[in-house]
Amino acid sequence: MKTVAIAKTKPKRDFLSIVDIEDRLPQLLETAHRFKSQLRGPKMLEAARGRNLGLIFEKPSTRTRVSFEVGFRKLGGHVTILGKNDIQLGRGESVEDTARVLSRYVDAIAYRAFDADNVRELAKHASIPVINALDDEEHPCQILADWLTVKEHFGKTAGLEFAYVGDGDNNTAHSYLLGAPVAAMNVRILAPKEYQPGAAWVERAKKLADAHGTTVTVAELSDKALKGVDVVATDTWVSMGDEREESRRLKAFTGYTIDDKAMAATGKKTTRFLHCLPAHYGHEVTYAVAHGPQSLIFDEAENRLWAQMAVLADLLGLKA
Ligand code: CP
Ligand code: NVA
Repeated sequence: MKTVAIAKTKPKRDFLSIVDIEDRLPQLLETAHRFKSQLRGPKMLEAARGRNLGLIFEKPSTRTRVSFEVGFRKLGGHVTILGKNDIQLGRGESVEDTARVLSRYVDAIAYRAFDADNVRELAKHASIPVINALDDEEHPCQILADWLTVKEHFGKTAGLEFAYVGDGDNNTAHSYLLGAPVAAMNVRILAPKEYQPGAAWVERAKKLADAHGTTVTVAELSDKALKGVDVVATDTWVSMGDEREESRRLKAFTGYTIDDKAMAATGKKTTRFLHCLPAHYGHEVTYAVAHGPQSLIFDEAENRLWAQMAVLADLLGLKA
């Protein structure tokens, strides 16, 4: 039998944490911006023709599910959506075997999971790129879309003051904490003591901030704490999986609602508001702020599409 020379392939890359794109952020934002300006409406590319994306969801989703599906189709590819209970993973098949099998069928997997260890395990055993579509530790796709929204609005991310108010120890808070230094922004996490990020997260963020010449502040909310902030973000007080703690959490977050007074406390009329959605009006934010002139929430939701298309094009090496 003739010997076939096998070309050396680059190792596959994953997108599990916002830090994984530390070196590629400017390039990803540029690609996302280009896709947004060229591909709105019925336009699409052929770049992912013949490629398949698998999406696994252990939790509900509106934005992540639709933006991945529409985005990969716009790149010319095909998408297979798998609820955990549609596949044998839900009946106890191992994450390792799931990873090895799916790697024979699809070219990339985006996985929304309860447990970050399972996302890491899937990535470890998959021979194809794995994207974290939210787990209990991080939500990197959201933060990439947020930085696209900030860049679009302010023309830059570098040097801006970013404040996240609310549950400081959830997935989005962790990704904001690590993602702000990566985007050269100063970050403030303003949360009740009990819901401030764990020491390991803060330590990682401070190391990144030192490397990028930015600052990290973790404190309780006060009017003074918001002074000078350019972007105020929040998220639900009760993340998926935290439902049993709802009444305790609603009590603990009293006074943390982003309302007109909180927005005015920045002292800047130019301050903008972000929320990954879904929102719970009257809890983490008022309807008036979320739907008011300072809010960018629907641009932010749209930008999930363009940002994830950029990630997929990058990880799959598409000529797009
Ligand atoms: N922001 C976000 O991830 O929304 P979904 O849960 O609807 O995907
Ligand atoms: N922190 C929220 C984000 C939802 C997109 C949750 O995990 O439910």
